[in-house]
Amino acid sequence: MRDDLTVTAPKLADAFEARFGSPPPFLSRAPGRVNLIGEHTDYNGLPVFPMALHREVRLAFRPRDDGKVVLHNTDDFFPPVDFEIEPAIPPYVRGSWGNYVKAPASHLARRFAIWRGFEGVVGSDLPPAAGLSSSSALVNAVGLALAWVNEVSREARAFAVEMADAERYVGTQGGGMDQAISLGARDRCAARISFDPLRLRHVTVPDDWCVIVADTGVRAEKSGAAQAAYNRRRAECEEALRIVAGHAATSGVTAKLATTWAQLVGAVDAETLVAVAEEALERNLFRRFRHVVTEAARVDEAVDRMIAADTIGFGALMDQSHASLRADFLVSSVELDELTAVAREGGAAGARLTGAGFGGCIVALADRWTVGGVLESLVEGYYERRDNADRIDDRLFVAVPSRGASVGPFDG
Ligand code: GLA
Repeated sequence: MRDDLTVTAPKLADAFEARFGSPPPFLSRAPGRVNLIGEHTDYNGLPVFPMALHREVRLAFRPRDDGKVVLHNTDDFFPPVDFEIEPAIPPYVRGSWGNYVKAPASHLARRFAIWRGFEGVVGSDLPPAAGLSSSSALVNAVGLALAWVNEVSREARAFAVEMADAERYVGTQGGGMDQAISLGARDRCAARISFDPLRLRHVTVPDDWCVIVADTGVRAEKSGAAQAAYNRRRAECEEALRIVAGHAATSGVTAKLATTWAQLVGAVDAETLVAVAEEALERNLFRRFRHVVTEAARVDEAVDRMIAADTIGFGALMDQSHASLRADFLVSSVELDELTAVAREGGAAGARLTGAGFGGCIVALADRWTVGGVLESLVEGYYERRDNADRIDDRLFVAVPSRGASVGPFDG
C-alpha cells in the first residue's frame, strides 16, 4: 500500500536532508483545485469558476550550479527524475510523472533561456489522477522553483499562461483553468476566470457553505486513456463553433462572422444559439455545442448565486451542469453518476463531476447543517458498499478555499 499522502514541512525537510545532506533552503508550493462549475469551457475561451484546495504539491529545493534537475518524490511509487535543461527536452515514456517536471523546464528554457537547475524533493497530499489538478500543481511548483533559481520574474497571471502552455508538453491540449487558479487563488475565495486575456474575479465563498470533494477511485490519467477522449472533445468543439458561426453569419443571426466562442456567445443569446446549432449541426456536434453554450451561461448565474449566498440556486446549477456533461458532453461514468446521486439523496444542494471527467472526483455543495448527512450517506451509500472505505480522508473531504502558489525560503 502507498504511504499516507500527508507531507508536512518537517517530513519534507527530513527527506531532503537525508537525500542531499543539508536542510532545504527553499520551498515552492502549489495547490490543487476543485472546479465548482464551468467544465470544458476553458479551452473554448469561456469562463470557469473553480477554487484552490488546501491540498497541494510542496517542493523543497536548492539551486545547482549546472543545468540539471534532480528531483525525488516522497512517494516511492514515483521514481526519481534527473535531466538536463534545454529548449526541447526529450520526454520520458508517456504517462511518466517526470514529464510534468520536464514540461515547465522545456518551456522556460525556450521562452526565457533559463540554464540553472535545482535538486529537490517533492511531496503532495493531492490524490493523483483524480481530477483535482495534481499534475498542474506539480507543473506550477516546478515552474516556480525554476523561475526562482533563474531569477525569472513574472506576475501570477502571466506565469499561469506560461504554465498552461508548458503543460501541453505532455500531449493534452488543456485549457488554462488549472494553472490559473493554482497560481492566482485567494484565501476563502473561488474565482471566476475568463480567458484571452486571463482575468480572475475573486468571490468569497459563504462561511456556511461546505464544498465536498468525493473521489470515485477510478483514475482519470491526463496523460493516459482520458487524453485522446479529451483532445477529441476539444476538436469537436472547434468544428461545432466553425459551422455554427458560419451558419449564424449567412442567415443574418450575427452581423459578421464570429471566430471565437466568446464573440459568438457575446453576440447572440444562448437560446437562439442553440436553435441555430440544431439546424446547422449533426446530432453529436449539436450536443457538444449545447453543453458549451449552456455551461458558460451557468457560470455567470452561479457567480450571482454565490454572491447572494443562495445555496439551493447554486446547487441546482451544479445538477444541471452534471446532466449536461453526462448527456451532451459524454464525459461522465457510472461511478460519477452514482456518487452524485448518493450525494443528492444525502441532502446535498447539488452535485456534479469536477475536472475533465471520465473518472476522478465529484464536487457536492452542502451547508454546515447538511454536511454531516451528506458525508455519512457517501460513506455508507458508496464507499462501504464498494468495500472501498480505507483511507477515506483522502477520498472524501470538505475543501477549504485556499490561497494560490508561492515560492521562497523554506521556513517550515
Ligand atoms: C482538465 C483541463 C482543464 C479543463 C478541464 C475540464 O482539468 O486541464 O483545462 O479543460 O479538464 O473543464
